[in-house]
Amino acid sequence: MLLSIHAVVVTFLGICASLSAATPLHLRDDHIGAPQDATFDYIVVGGGTTGLTVAARLSEHASVAVIEAGGYYQITYGNNSVVPLYSLTRIDAIDPSPQFPRRPEIDWELVTVPQTNAFNRTVHYAQGKTLGGSSAFNTMSYLRSTSSAYQRWASMVGDNDYTFKSLLPFFKKSVRLTPPNLEKRNSANATPEYDPSAYGDGSPLDVSWNNFVDPTLTWLAKSLQAIGIPINPKGFSSGELKGGAWLPSTIDPAHATRESSQTSFLDYADANTQIKVYPYSIAVRVLFENETATGVSVDTNGTIYTLSATKEVIVSAGVFNSPKLLMLSGIGPTEVLTSFDIPVVANLPGVGQNLQDPTSINVANFVNTPNAQSIVANPATEPEALRKYVEEAAGPYSSAAGYISYERLPDDLRQTLPPATLAKFDNFPSDFPDSQYIVGTFVMANGSSMGAISSTFTRTFSRGSVTLASADYKDNPLIDLGWFSDPADADVLIAGVKRVRQAWSSEPALTIRLGAEVLPGDTVDTDEEILSYIKNNGNQLWHASSTCSMGKAGDKSAVVDSKGRVFGVKGLRVADLSVVPYALPGHCQANAYALGEKIARDIIDAR
Ligand SMILES: Cc1cc2nc3c(=O)[nH]c(=O)nc-3n(C[C@H](O)[C@H](O)[C@H](O)COP(=O)(O)OP(=O)(O)OC[C@H]3O[C@@H](n4cnc5c(N)ncnc54)[C@H](O)[C@@H]3O)c2cc1C
Ligand SMILES: *[C@@H]1O[C@H](CO)[C@@H](O)[C@H](O)[C@H]1NC(C)=O
Ligand SMILES: *[C@@H]1O[C@H](CO)[C@@H](O)[C@H](O)[C@H]1NC(C)=O
Ligand SMILES: *[C@@H]1O[C@H](CO)[C@@H](O)[C@H](O)[C@H]1NC(C)=O
Ligand SMILES: *[C@@H]1O[C@H](CO)[C@@H](O)[C@H](O)[C@H]1NC(C)=O
Ligand SMILES: *[C@@H]1O[C@H](CO)[C@@H](O)[C@H](O)[C@H]1NC(C)=O
Repeated sequence: MLLSIHAVVVTFLGICASLSAATPLHLRDDHIGAPQDATFDYIVVGGGTTGLTVAARLSEHASVAVIEAGGYYQITYGNNSVVPLYSLTRIDAIDPSPQFPRRPEIDWELVTVPQTNAFNRTVHYAQGKTLGGSSAFNTMSYLRSTSSAYQRWASMVGDNDYTFKSLLPFFKKSVRLTPPNLEKRNSANATPEYDPSAYGDGSPLDVSWNNFVDPTLTWLAKSLQAIGIPINPKGFSSGELKGGAWLPSTIDPAHATRESSQTSFLDYADANTQIKVYPYSIAVRVLFENETATGVSVDTNGTIYTLSATKEVIVSAGVFNSPKLLMLSGIGPTEVLTSFDIPVVANLPGVGQNLQDPTSINVANFVNTPNAQSIVANPATEPEALRKYVEEAAGPYSSAAGYISYERLPDDLRQTLPPATLAKFDNFPSDFPDSQYIVGTFVMANGSSMGAISSTFTRTFSRGSVTLASADYKDNPLIDLGWFSDPADADVLIAGVKRVRQAWSSEPALTIRLGAEVLPGDTVDTDEEILSYIKNNGNQLWHASSTCSMGKAGDKSAVVDSKGRVFGVKGLRVADLSVVPYALPGHCQANAYALGEKIARDIIDAR
């Protein structure tokens, strides 16, 4: 079978469901901006994960406008983005294949250039084009990176604000944690362990544990424990990524609905501030007078007008669109700007460079245990699942991702890595994990259940880039993910596949496993065969970062300083995953929310 897991899943996705009224939509009429010139203290470009966090916090103190290309995903995409299980089965917009279904109402439809080190594959890279941004269709896992990873960030940018200790108050500020509901989870094999001191009394972002445990996942979790990766009693929010954890998710536990930056921060700001939102509106360019940002040119359904900022413009358009907008505004590598006749405001060669995108590979088998998807795919069990969801906010529809592990590879496998690859690890703190394993389950059209364990490297050596395709703001940028441009990434994935196969050969896995390995399959055996399989089938986790990297003054590749201020100009910041200076281990959304809190604080303190 040559299909990747994602391709398998999307081939039998149903037609998009229409709107369910599960989530009330709140934006007040007088909080929706009319398409005409207006002036605010702050203008935030992009109502995504980081952008709505920044905007909501700034609007506690000042007048704020948010420019967002999309609308409400609950309206444009029905309950696909709302029901947790659908994040795994119905969000067809995230299909990475170049034949992805077109969903312009929620996705930017970005497609990469051929990946020269991955057999010239082109990849669709889903990015949310909606209020909520990518938090509107991510898989909702909530975890943070490691203390040493944040220390590395702090050292790279010369600012101790980025140590885990300094960031922790910002992580806590957003999050309202609800402890696991053990009764609804009803699984002694999946009792979450975590460190309550990593959370405080924050709000408005709900984080909680699924009100259902996928039965197959408990076996896959046991198989990773059986090869020597025990549960970490602290979980993954205390600055450690070591061992395994049943993860919390950005889910509202009372209703078992997706929590995005829109259902949290935007709803909060709508109810408590005078925030103004410009939906279906595209930022054309940032406007400057001399070297000071004075506003943004905006296109709302074809009407072009100017929103002026008396204080600052904050660009939160995401890892691909923030560098694009900077370049369209005259900030970027001079040779790129002049080739498109864009007047240069600041020559910053780092804009669009340093793209880092960790990739992963699945090892999958048929299993004899049910999973959340197979239960709802079965006409005999679906009605009870739906009842449980609607009446109790529980059951398989209420659950999404679940269990992740991190480890330093065992010595015998580590020794199979080329010395040049091991030597590159020396540029990272010694307690960095080597590999991440994510367990997942799937159901085939004929009802067969499948289990998958993916492996991902946690240090990203390959580098890609984003540049302009044209000077037209309606065109998507040219994206080269640079996949496998550094061979060290694939080396670690090869070892990861071997390690995951050990888990699949452990006693708990053999209890549920049926037949020969499905993916990659028994014919993929030697290192060369695994490498080729990885290049053909490796997938993104949608964790791309670092295209407007933060750095020290004088560092020619840096785009923003440690407070997000764009070098070479005044009144302009970038706040989103593009400024994180390297791909942190762990997942991204917790960092996006905390960064939003932190940059908002910097802006408020600077007034
Ligand atoms: C499929 C998928 C699964 C994921 N799973 C997880 C997970 O389980 N856990 C996790 O931690 N992370 C996950 N992530 C990653 C995480 O969601 C993202 O890294 C994070 O949301 C990015 O936040 P951001 O603020 O940088 O950008 P975004 O949230 O993407 O926000 C950018 C916003 O800017 C808007 N915009 C862009 N250009 C313009 C313009 N010119 N004018 C107006 N508006 C514009 C966009 O429409 C968007 O709303 C996943 C991501 C995806 C896509
Ligand atoms: C999602 O919406 C569709 C169409 O309205 C409906 O049939 C389905 O039951 C909904 N799913 C859930 C889990 O509520
Ligand atoms: C990828 O494309 C380049 C440029 O067209 C070509 O030179 C190269 O041979 C291709 N590689 C593969 C593996 O097809
Ligand atoms: C821009 O420069 C001109 C000429 O030096 C000056 O008159 C004007 O006030 C400046 N504008 C701003 C916003 O600084
Ligand atoms: C812009 O278009 C969207 C989608 O068609 C529509 O919902 C919205 O009301 C329009 N906005 C304005 C200001 O015309
Ligand atoms: C179900 O379909 C898959 C391919 O889609 C096939 O590999 C598998 O053998 C089938 N299972 C059964 C029980 O027929």
